[in-house]
Amino acid sequence: MLVNAKQILEEAKRLSYAVPQFNINNLEWTRYILEESQSLKSPVILGVSEGAAKYFGGFRTVYNVVSSLIDDLNITIPVVLHLDHGSSVEFCQKAIEEGFTSVMIDASQYDIDKNILITNQVIEYAKSKNVSVEAEVGHIGGTEDNVKGNVLHATVEDCEKIVEETNLDFLAPALGSVHGLYKGKPNLNFSRMLEIKEKTKVPLVLHGGTGIDDKNIIQAIKHGICKININTDLQIEWSKKVRKFLIKNKKIYDPRKIISSGEEAIKNKVREKIILFGSVNKI
Ligand code: 13P
Repeated sequence: MLVNAKQILEEAKRLSYAVPQFNINNLEWTRYILEESQSLKSPVILGVSEGAAKYFGGFRTVYNVVSSLIDDLNITIPVVLHLDHGSSVEFCQKAIEEGFTSVMIDASQYDIDKNILITNQVIEYAKSKNVSVEAEVGHIGGTEDNVKGNVLHATVEDCEKIVEETNLDFLAPALGSVHGLYKGKPNLNFSRMLEIKEKTKVPLVLHGGTGIDDKNIIQAIKHGICKININTDLQIEWSKKVRKFLIKNKKIYDPRKIISSGEEAIKNKVREKIILFGSVNKI
């Protein structure tokens, strides 16, 4: 069942667990994630970056793949089709027009007033289509940015301001996590996370879930995180297995066999995260 993310994240906030966002890269990954989430009775958010949408062929193709798999596989858990890091109002609108049930507008490179202005433009359109909206404050960087000091941490004031002046559904404050593999150790600002949780009262999102150890994940959930994004972890697990398979099976050329040699690895990682985040049996 395709739904927007508002209700499932409000529920996660109420019961103190996090709903996983797994980024999808192709039809096969989508199927593995849906099947494993269904077997654990966990709501799931399928994250699609603009790059991934382009790789699939476009937003409509992604929507058709996801909605058809939900039907064909009899998936009954709540599934959110979410645009990850939408870079403009136009991209968000396009994703919504094609059937996405949730979007992130990432205007974090601008000052807070411009961020709010752009976020409101997305919200105005999204709300008319019953689509949920995520915004980002501060700036979540990439690999090495945590050691180079390039992660611009969100301030409590900016988070309060964007929540007061928009009707956003959930908020990603940059508090030390980065996308991709960490150089050095992630150093999450838990005291500020808690303050943002208490002052804004909206579900919070943790980007860059790969490489954050279990203890810190549990802490983050206690400090208001209700959605955790995982991408690189699945890529690493899948590619490790496929590489091994190809080295061992030099004569196999059937793409179904090659791609699905990583199925178990993805399903194991999805299962591990769902159990860690506490979203198992939550439907
Ligand atoms: P990772 O690739 O570090 O898991 O981060 C994913 C993410 O935050 C997508 O928005």
